[in-house]
Amino acid sequence: MSKQPSFLTRRDLLRSGLAATASVATSRAAFADALSNDEAKTAISKEHRPKLDAPVMSVRERLLLDFNWRFHLGNACDTAKDFGFGKMSREAVFAKAGRVNSAAAIKFDDSAWRGLDLPHDWAVELPFQGTPLLISEHGAKPIGREFPETSIGWYRRTFTLDASDAGKRISIEFDGVFRQASVFFNGFYLGSNFSGYAPFSFDVTDFCNPGEKNVLALRVDASLSESWYYEGAGIYRHVWLVKTAPTHIAQWTHCVRSEVKQNAAAIAVSADIQNESSASQTCQLATRIVDPNGKVVATASSVAIEVSAFSRQTFTAKTKIMHPLLWDVKPEQSAKHLYRAITSVHVGGKVVDSEETTFGIRTLRWDASDGFFLNGKSLKLKGTCCHQDHAGLGVAMPDRIQQFRIQRLREMGSNAYRTAHNPPSPELLDACDAEGMMVMCETRMFSSSPEGFSELERMILRFRNHPSVILWSIGNEEPEQGSPRGQKIAAAMRQRVREHDPTRTVILPMNGSWGKGASYSIDVQGFNYFNGNMDEFHKNFPQQPCVGSEIGSVHSTRGIYVNDMERGYYSAYDRNHNSYSSTAEGWWTYFEARPWLAGGFVWAGFDYRGEPKPHTFPSNSCNSGIVDQCGFAKDNFYYYSAWWKQEPLLHLFPHWNWAGKEGQEIEIWCHSNLDSVELFVNDVSAGSQTVARNSHVVWKVKYAPGVIEVRGTKDGKIILAEKRETTGMPARILLRPDRTTLSADAVDVAMLSVEIVDAQGRMMPTASNSVEFAIEGPAKLIGVGNGDPRCIELDKDSRRSAFNGLCMAIVQSNREAGDIRISATSPGLESASITLRSMQITPRPFVE
Ligand code: GAL
Repeated sequence: MSKQPSFLTRRDLLRSGLAATASVATSRAAFADALSNDEAKTAISKEHRPKLDAPVMSVRERLLLDFNWRFHLGNACDTAKDFGFGKMSREAVFAKAGRVNSAAAIKFDDSAWRGLDLPHDWAVELPFQGTPLLISEHGAKPIGREFPETSIGWYRRTFTLDASDAGKRISIEFDGVFRQASVFFNGFYLGSNFSGYAPFSFDVTDFCNPGEKNVLALRVDASLSESWYYEGAGIYRHVWLVKTAPTHIAQWTHCVRSEVKQNAAAIAVSADIQNESSASQTCQLATRIVDPNGKVVATASSVAIEVSAFSRQTFTAKTKIMHPLLWDVKPEQSAKHLYRAITSVHVGGKVVDSEETTFGIRTLRWDASDGFFLNGKSLKLKGTCCHQDHAGLGVAMPDRIQQFRIQRLREMGSNAYRTAHNPPSPELLDACDAEGMMVMCETRMFSSSPEGFSELERMILRFRNHPSVILWSIGNEEPEQGSPRGQKIAAAMRQRVREHDPTRTVILPMNGSWGKGASYSIDVQGFNYFNGNMDEFHKNFPQQPCVGSEIGSVHSTRGIYVNDMERGYYSAYDRNHNSYSSTAEGWWTYFEARPWLAGGFVWAGFDYRGEPKPHTFPSNSCNSGIVDQCGFAKDNFYYYSAWWKQEPLLHLFPHWNWAGKEGQEIEIWCHSNLDSVELFVNDVSAGSQTVARNSHVVWKVKYAPGVIEVRGTKDGKIILAEKRETTGMPARILLRPDRTTLSADAVDVAMLSVEIVDAQGRMMPTASNSVEFAIEGPAKLIGVGNGDPRCIELDKDSRRSAFNGLCMAIVQSNREAGDIRISATSPGLESASITLRSMQITPRPFVE
């Protein structure tokens, strides 16, 4: 091991270029220094380098704490039904440390509680309820102050720590709990976290029982909402048990930044080393950069710095990657261009801690005249805004679902995603990194209050290494957006963002007051809808980059072609928009024609629970998604595919099952990016039409059962054709899995789409047959759905009725490998069954 200097001279510091950072413990200062000095000036002298090939003996462990929890509903009003929590007594909750009573107590008997694994959302398990209070909120699930019986959830997890954990720092990390989580460990109150979206953690070292039983308990109070749509309830993201040495990398401080110069990328790695021992320690940071093929392509080390007892210090290390592989939205440049930085802490010749982070190298540029540039190339943002719930699951999403959703949007040609209106789960951003999806990452609270800053900071620190994140959004349609006060709040938030991440820009999605208030404090002007204001804005503010932060908002229901206001169904023609919004064709044509507009984010990518307005119960969700809650495409999916992708496309609608409408006129639309399209009705041409750029073609024909067919021509040749046929009655079920092999890790899932078809195998577009699922083998059914915005059948059930021919089931593996046989039956239909294989894998380390 190389010589470890016990102290650094001023000369050492100057030679290393880290004189400033050695004494100034802010990561921002460290980075400014590391990125602005050239390599020669900041070269670290050889004698200070830790051996990078030293075996990593870090004590750090990060264990998934998702399995084997106990759960019970509590009560917001009645202490007797809330396990006596807060009941007047001498053992009041906060009276004596370590003696919190009720279900927080270590000795509490939870054997009668329900066993479950995380992620968990108890709101989705509740029956739908039609009270007027819930018309828009919570997806018609009884959550809120008015529902004390169903708005408090208690969780307990008992586990044993190794005797050898004595002397380590132990903490518990929560990726997201909705909401107001009061956390107890071994009867000690640790603290409360209010945000339902920001990650948080507690150091529990002093309260641990190494070698013995430990009990983690949470009282989760979902009574207050943060929004106006469905937010779920419970521990709906992962929980982690983290063990480190007393001297370790402080949480979320491991940061990698890159600056691309010609054929090289200058890499600056920083981390805060926290010394929680009673003696000062001389520490060094050493990083290996591993390329996508697993090869170490660069190493870096910091100077050695003495970190006093119980204090924290920022360290930086610099290196260079020659001919870096740039992260991009192209499939061959996203997952395959991700690097890893493995950073170790060296103390006295030993590696005491090591942390790995994934990062990507790319450049971002916003231009007021020419829009957005990724890696120096102009790129229009073809985005969607999405909430975080999915059919059958609510907000408790296994990681694979995040990937499934992002892949679905990528299939459509979308390259950008807005996390409306809250910080996302880490796995969503992992999926975006891997799939080449750029992200506008949004905090929930527009505020410079301690809570607002804290939520913003936690989002940035947690997610700043993700190459997919291109913009930090500090709010949405804020009432103070146009006021001097809004300007001050936005300026303070932007300043706070800069301190932690000077590499990205700040946006505020505004729905008015553009050019006033907060507009002066942000880097990129967000337009939520436009009503013709954007040209005027650009004329008056020619120096301001602009993006359509929320745009479109077309109501449509999959498989519906006639508005039915009584039932809250909208036709899937690109037609039904709000007074302030526009059709897909309307906004995209406008944006495409203006290079200064960097692109837009459609409201919404997926349908979501809540906000069914103006409709009332049983309508319980919003149908402005491009795909429904299951991910089944509505027709506008193909409009965007036609104009956002290069591949030739032809999509014909509606279906051709209009019994009772014989002789009546039906509108036939075709989305296509070919030169012209000809329609045939029962083999007779109804005429050929030229497809105008960013548009669609329409015919009106009299209905007669049979076949409609479109033939699309490019450069004078017919290259694509598509038909819709009048089908027979429902005859059988088709089951299609999104994948046939699962990991036997009790985490992985398969999504099964179910089609009701006629005897000839044609999807029956109005079928509503009820389908019963049965599973044999090592898996369970975790949710069902059908995309119907007014369906009030249970999400957690073994049956679901089809909606316009389709429904869906989600199946999750357990830890046993083997064949999983899934069958789908329905009275009067030929049933279907498929077999999936669950394969043994090495799971992520977890707490038994
Ligand atoms: C926007 C709002 C979204 C959603 C949408 C519905 O104004 O930002 O959260 O409510 O309207 O059209």
